[in-house]
Amino acid sequence: MKLGIVGGGQLGRMLAIAGVPLGLECQFLDPNPQAPAGAIAPLNVSAFTDQRALRALARSSAVIGFDWENVSVEALRKATRGSGARIAPPLRALATGQDRLLEKRLFERLRIPTTRHAAVNSRAALWRAAAAIGLPGVLKTRRLGYDGKGQAVIRKHADLDAAWQSLGGVPLLYEEFVPFDLEVSGLGVRARDGTVALYPLVRNWHDEGILRLSMAPWQAPALERQARRHVRAVLREFNYVGVLAVEFFVRNGRLIANELAPRVHNSGHWSIEGAVTSQFENHVRAMAGLPLGSVASTGHSAMINLIGQVPPAAQLLQVPGLHLHDYGKSSRPGRKVGHCTIIASSAAERDRRTRSLLRALHLRLKQVP
Ligand SMILES: Nc1ncnc2c1ncn2[C@@H]1O[C@H](COP(=O)(O)OP(=O)(O)OP(=O)(O)O)[C@@H](O)[C@H]1O
Ligand SMILES: [Mg+2]
Repeated sequence: MKLGIVGGGQLGRMLAIAGVPLGLECQFLDPNPQAPAGAIAPLNVSAFTDQRALRALARSSAVIGFDWENVSVEALRKATRGSGARIAPPLRALATGQDRLLEKRLFERLRIPTTRHAAVNSRAALWRAAAAIGLPGVLKTRRLGYDGKGQAVIRKHADLDAAWQSLGGVPLLYEEFVPFDLEVSGLGVRARDGTVALYPLVRNWHDEGILRLSMAPWQAPALERQARRHVRAVLREFNYVGVLAVEFFVRNGRLIANELAPRVHNSGHWSIEGAVTSQFENHVRAMAGLPLGSVASTGHSAMINLIGQVPPAAQLLQVPGLHLHDYGKSSRPGRKVGHCTIIASSAAERDRRTRSLLRALHLRLKQVP
């Protein structure tokens, strides 16, 4: 079966790899001729809005999906109409996942606690939002943000001008700055027949807005119960098919939803080696209408992102049991170019090995156990 995927980044690449043993062939559309998925599967180099290319993808695929959320919902809807291809995950989830304001509204509708926020469409509205919600706050573009891009933290009134200067002109969202104790994410997968499976809770460490480290399972039963309830509610709401992630802040033992991703997620990369069935395999299984695989963890995982450039493999692979994923991307500061995962037989051993790996990578993170 052929799966057509719009976007051929590292997520697409790992989806393609997961599909191979199942006889699921991915094909991609991406404007970048060097898109990482192109090394694994056919890549049509075209703009995301190119109707001709999208239609060709839809006609030659049983199912159409996407590997990032900033693709045009309208272009996809139009291209798939009458093509015979199904779309998974659903476009309604994509439309929500690409707009921070719609995400917040969804969380509110589903009674999932989220940050206090206000839409900001003018300079005056920013000052009003800061007065109503208070400082500190974070101003974010509603669309197209990733890895902390398109955001400005506002600590004092004097910061408002600079934030407006750097981000104004597009629809924005102002929200309270959450002095969180930690960050976690919940990943779930829903099959075509409505079966749901929820991965163990993941704890995440960010630095400068970029995810650096994820650990799973993160053993915090009360938090995990809340996350499972929330992720399940979102999956049900969209009649969802595929993997979905929700990112949360944790404060005083309560989850506060930050954002959702209607796709496989960086905080689920540990599942390639650390779960019976990886998020990538379960996503392509769900897209193809196949039964889901077990989401149980096989050990205690830590996943570290490689940012900027991949250190020499000969150095990384000296670490016993380390799994290296080099996305084949060119080096650039702040760019996610790979990740590595270790799996330990206990949480204590995972923590010890993670600390030593972080040291070797010259990465300093707060509150790593
Ligand atoms: N309101 C907030 N209060 C405190 N910290 C925040 C807030 N919003 C964002 N952050 C910090 O910045 C990180 C990135 O923010 P967010 O998830 O909104 O952005 P993003 O660009 O969509 O990132 P990604 O797509 O990589 O998840 C968060 O994980 C968190 O560490
Ligand atoms: Mg995020």
